[in-house]
Amino acid sequence: MVICGGLKIKNYLGRCLRYLASIAVAAALLAGLSGCAQETEDVGNPRKVKIGVTLYDQYDTFLTLLMDCLHREVEDNVELVIYNASQSQQTQNSQVKKMIEDGCDVICVNLVDRTDPTAVIDAARKADVPIIFFNRELVEGDISRWNKLFYVGADAAESGIMQGEMAAVTCLTDKSIDKNGDGAIQYVVLEGEAGHQDAIVRTEYCVETLMKKGVAVDKLGNSIANWNRAQAQTKVAQMIDSGSDAIELILANNDDMALGAIDAYEAYEIKKSDWPAIFGIDGTEVGLEAVRDDKMVGTVYNDKEGQAHAIYRLSMALAGGGSIEDVEDEFTVTDGKYIRLHYDKITAANINKYLGN
Ligand code: GAL
Repeated sequence: MVICGGLKIKNYLGRCLRYLASIAVAAALLAGLSGCAQETEDVGNPRKVKIGVTLYDQYDTFLTLLMDCLHREVEDNVELVIYNASQSQQTQNSQVKKMIEDGCDVICVNLVDRTDPTAVIDAARKADVPIIFFNRELVEGDISRWNKLFYVGADAAESGIMQGEMAAVTCLTDKSIDKNGDGAIQYVVLEGEAGHQDAIVRTEYCVETLMKKGVAVDKLGNSIANWNRAQAQTKVAQMIDSGSDAIELILANNDDMALGAIDAYEAYEIKKSDWPAIFGIDGTEVGLEAVRDDKMVGTVYNDKEGQAHAIYRLSMALAGGGSIEDVEDEFTVTDGKYIRLHYDKITAANINKYLGN
């Protein structure tokens, strides 16, 4: 007990000192890093904190929404610069170098290739610029390579379990889902990118949860559609063409792919009562509308507001010379490196809470 108390006080004092240090550094930044503010020409026009961001693909729906949330966080004394890496790791590496040259205080990286962060880490470390990776999680061995590397995202397993639980409730309570009445649910998984942590983990945990809940399942196929609505529509159309009218359940790793599946059924003018039960993940605006309109049975909310807020607060703490401990009042920090926001289940029962968010 005494030791715990002592540790707490030590932590508290440590936090206070870090807090004071971060205020001092922020003040130095605001004073243009040139000593006394009164002596510079920049009085009243202090140097802005500069946050650089690079996205694996700016056309990704969820990331677009996440960036909208991040823009809303930005205060007057902060400049936010966002780059699109257009799915090229090489382009992203050059963007990181450019952001370092441009004097970014912190760089937020949505890796193109989550297994290849070496060039980004090396460049940032050399220039002593902290990096917040987000949404596309690098492996543990890489994040431990330097003490100024962090990750903001969500727990992929949680979203898979939630999707599986919602699908299980539907399959167990609505007997019309088992269209051919064979006692098993014929299902298809629409997967995001190969090798993406959310695609791998969501798929695994969703199907495992469904089975654990007592739903007899029969896998008709897995198809990779790269988080993309048009690709998912094409894939599902091919399945319908090849006579897979037996699909009873579609588990999509994200809303855009679930919407692509809906597009395919609508394009074939298949009547709604013959559609499979379709589930997504993200809770994008269009995804929520599909739940409201009873085209998608459920989705899982990927907390874009929470993730944007965590990215911003951590950026400001790091830019001011502080550490991830400075945001522990608001976020749960794991291993001194990770902030993961929670997901939430969305069905017709609670859709109104999310619509208009
Ligand atoms: C996932 C999200 C997908 C896609 C992907 C990109 O978390 O659910 O829709 O945005 O990230 O990395």
